[in-house]
Amino acid sequence: MKGKVVNNLMLNDKYYLMEIESEDFVNKAKPGHFMMVKAQQYDYLYDPLLRRPFGVCDIERGRFKILYVLIGKGTNLLSQIKTGSQIEFSEPLGNTFKFNNEKTVALVGGGVGIAPLLFLAKYLHNQDVLVDLYYGGKTEDDILLIDEFKKYCQHIEVTTENGKVGKKGIVTSPLSENIKKYEKIYACGPKRMLQATSTLAINHNIPIEVSLDERMACGMGACLGCLVYVKNDQGEIEQKRCCVEGPVFDGARIVWE
Ligand SMILES: Cc1cc2nc3c(=O)[nH]c(=O)nc-3n(C[C@H](O)[C@H](O)[C@H](O)COP(=O)(O)OP(=O)(O)OC[C@H]3O[C@@H](n4cnc5c(N)ncnc54)[C@H](O)[C@@H]3O)c2cc1C
Ligand code: FES
Repeated sequence: MKGKVVNNLMLNDKYYLMEIESEDFVNKAKPGHFMMVKAQQYDYLYDPLLRRPFGVCDIERGRFKILYVLIGKGTNLLSQIKTGSQIEFSEPLGNTFKFNNEKTVALVGGGVGIAPLLFLAKYLHNQDVLVDLYYGGKTEDDILLIDEFKKYCQHIEVTTENGKVGKKGIVTSPLSENIKKYEKIYACGPKRMLQATSTLAINHNIPIEVSLDERMACGMGACLGCLVYVKNDQGEIEQKRCCVEGPVFDGARIVWE
């Protein structure tokens, strides 16, 4: 698929928000989906060869957004793409978050893991679900899009490790105080945060879905580079491809180590 970059906004030294016009993509995308983006600056270059995976952060009127953090070659090239340029990306890939008419849910995000949760918050809000957000970052620079989340969330708890924004500490602390309120938890962020959140959910018997950011090469199920280990109904460990059977998994079934 191809689309026009209508905005590539620098939010701070680390984060960018790119908005892309593509009616076709928007019509297919559901909360939880990701896409593989071509980060080559010119069509005649093949470097970097591999496309980069990003979650769908938001969709609106024929446009979708990706929130990305600068890591290496691919994301640095993305940050240089000018408004008006054409960009290439895959169809929406992977599975999606599941929703079973729960009335009160918690979203738990860490750093750029917040990206797919905005699209999910909007979707759940439109289904009349009461959504609370628990958002953790290392510093104030990692806390983004709060005004957007306010449109869809009843209550927002922010934590940072330095305490400059929100409460000082980690996001599982405020979550643990309120956890009994929730019928379901959705989380995305660093693995340690996802593991701690899943443990809390299991201990309180609350269903939890987590979206994993495994390193990906093909994004299509062919290279087996993104394997995740999960327990089946019999408690046996199975291998799943994060790009096809994920990126969303039952947090209670993941083998974290
Ligand atoms: C399903 C999914 C959704 C994601 N959503 C987002 C998002 O919304 N926003 C965002 O900023 N990042 C997201 N990521 C992580 C993002 O793909 C990497 O940060 C990005 O690919 C780094 O590319 P790079 O060239 O800058 O870094 P480099 O380190 O130079 O990349 C080298 C290779 O490793 C892969 N890679 C590096 N880090 C990761 C990672 N954490 N996950 C997967 N592959 C990685 C790259 O794709 C590339 O093939 C997501 C990852 C996955 C799997
Ligand atoms: S990235 Fe190739 S199988 Fe998942």
